[in-house]
Amino acid sequence: MNYFHAIAIAAILTSILTSGGSCHKSCRTNASLMKSIQYQLKLVEDNDGKCDCNQSPSTPSSGKVGFLVSNSKDLQNIGNGAIVVFDTVTTNIGGGYDKSTGVFTARVDGLYYFTWTVLAYTGKTFYTKLILNDTIIARNHAGAEGMSTYMPSSQSAVLQMSKNDKVSIRISTNGKYMIGDTWSTFSGFKI
Ligand SMILES: *[C@@H]1O[C@H](CO)[C@@H](O)[C@H](O)[C@H]1NC(C)=O
Ligand SMILES: *[C@@H]1O[C@H](CO)[C@@H](O)[C@H](O)[C@H]1NC(C)=O
Repeated sequence: MNYFHAIAIAAILTSILTSGGSCHKSCRTNASLMKSIQYQLKLVEDNDGKCDCNQSPSTPSSGKVGFLVSNSKDLQNIGNGAIVVFDTVTTNIGGGYDKSTGVFTARVDGLYYFTWTVLAYTGKTFYTKLILNDTIIARNHAGAEGMSTYMPSSQSAVLQMSKNDKVSIRISTNGKYMIGDTWSTFSGFKI
């Protein structure tokens, strides 16, 4: 919708600019035209999904952002503070998640929801935390020590993010053994 408004405005402005010498006078006198332009501009400005010229081609014009990722392989002995890289992308609308680094970058300001689940292998631990830039937001304690079965753990967060803020899942102390495939996942979306 906003796109069409922008196109309509562009057409109006173009017709004014190309009408040459007569433009200046009629622009000043035609109050209804100016009112219409101002109204259309306001619609575009008020629209949350306004055109972002820096957006990636995979960003739909709806402005929607959402991803779901998992890891093709089990992860073992990942060091403290290392990013848990989920290398398999199921959904990445808006292109905010980078599967080579494991980092989600907000392309637009907004309120975002994240959740992740880790399944720790029998007898092992895989403690993680969600980091916004460098700040710990939430921790997840998936520990199956002394157990004869696997142990899952989930966490979630709602975050007000600015453009270029980054979210990642990192090891909190101990990343002994996370089961991969689709047992452990990381997802998020813009509310
Ligand atoms: C003013 O603009 C409207 C279109 O918004 C047009 O229909 C009308 O003829 C114009 N009037 C004058 C005097 O230019
Ligand atoms: C987070 O980091 C990005 C770049 O890495 C920076 O552009 C942004 O301003 C930072 N946000 C905060 C709240 O510090």
